[in-house]
Amino acid sequence: MISTDELRQLVRPDGVHKRVYTDPEIFSLEMQRVYGQVWIYVGHESQVPKTGDYHTTQLGDQKVIMVRVNDQKVSVLYNRCPHRGANLVAEGDGCAGKFFRCSYHAWTFKLDGSLLTTPMRAGFEGTTFDPTSPEVSMVPVAQVDSYRGFVFAKQSLGGPGLVEFLGGAASSIDNLCDRSPVGKVEVAGGVFRVMQLSNWKMFYENLHDTMHGPVTHESSVIAAREQAEEIGEMPFELLIQDGNGEPYSFWEKLELRAYHYGHGYMEGIFDPAAATRDEVSRRHFACLSDAYGEVRAREILGMSRHNTIIYGSGSPHNVFQQFRVIRPVSVDRTLVEIQVFRCVGAPPEVFDRALTYANVVNSPSSNVMPDDVEVYRRCQVGNTTAGGDWISQHRYAGTDVVLPDGAVSINGTSELPMRNQFVAWLQYMESEPLAPHTEQQRLEVHCVE
Ligand code: FES
Repeated sequence: MISTDELRQLVRPDGVHKRVYTDPEIFSLEMQRVYGQVWIYVGHESQVPKTGDYHTTQLGDQKVIMVRVNDQKVSVLYNRCPHRGANLVAEGDGCAGKFFRCSYHAWTFKLDGSLLTTPMRAGFEGTTFDPTSPEVSMVPVAQVDSYRGFVFAKQSLGGPGLVEFLGGAASSIDNLCDRSPVGKVEVAGGVFRVMQLSNWKMFYENLHDTMHGPVTHESSVIAAREQAEEIGEMPFELLIQDGNGEPYSFWEKLELRAYHYGHGYMEGIFDPAAATRDEVSRRHFACLSDAYGEVRAREILGMSRHNTIIYGSGSPHNVFQQFRVIRPVSVDRTLVEIQVFRCVGAPPEVFDRALTYANVVNSPSSNVMPDDVEVYRRCQVGNTTAGGDWISQHRYAGTDVVLPDGAVSINGTSELPMRNQFVAWLQYMESEPLAPHTEQQRLEVHCVE
């Protein structure tokens, strides 16, 4: 097995060895040590509105079920029947009704995972079978918590609580929710799924890689500008493609924040005019002003933040209400699922605009995302060649301003976010997750109250 010393030699203050993207042994260790001890976004409470509703997903390589137990509780259970190990439910969303029933031999389980009944109970007489034993119940994930309706789970005990873990990145979720006049959002409109032929970490590194936009997305910028010239205006659909074509001087002025645990965001200066820039924004502003007052409404809509990183989980986007959820599949395969949120109580045009943004920028058929997916693939393939071993992260190395909760760069083209992610990555990879020692330990902490 790869040693801690070997792992340390793969990360420099200004670069990483290509092996972190290509070695299946490292990927396997990441599933234990990163995905085994980090809070991972499971789904949104709105995906399981009624008792018995469930949503399946993955924590690293572990298949899990998020299930609504009752009005107050959402649990996250491993998707495994304790009899012979069958998945309890097929992948996707559904409603279990009052209990889960295994499709193999019809053992049934309460929604909290505990055994309800087995057929032919008489057959267990005289055996050590104990229906009250946790060994014959579905196993809950060690820790579950929810932040403003966003449900996260953690497979190990100990470590920071969810709020401490999210740190400054939580303010992006706050802003996303505050764009609703009642402070609530819900997943709506289905999801996009894109399989990237690249390692999961490349997605996070690209989120704040401001040097790539004008280059990688050049074709969609040109197409947007040509179309705008032809029709004599630059509607929203073209404007959001054109944005990638800003000059380096624009990107340089953004501020990059890098928090502990690999999180961060990039932010432009507060933009009070955003609240009234166009008709959709004006209606949104009027709605939020009624709820919160004009000053607060302008604060909410003026936040100019892009591509927040919650390392291991994905990227919430407050301005256009979406969450790109990242699921590692193998060392060179990563599934991206794009959830779009409706701000409850906001004018319907706000949700329409979020859907438009997701369609134009993030969907499999958009003009923009395939550019990223293709360069990730090229990086993955290039890193398997003998043409060199190291990845450069030198840009503005050594100039970051260290803060108590992380670091900041006033140079928006800095590679600070990548360096910060690998500081966190190495910390995770150096330490063993604290596994629950007893089933009782899991049962005490697994529910969202
Ligand atoms: Fe589930 Fe047998 S495997 S009841």
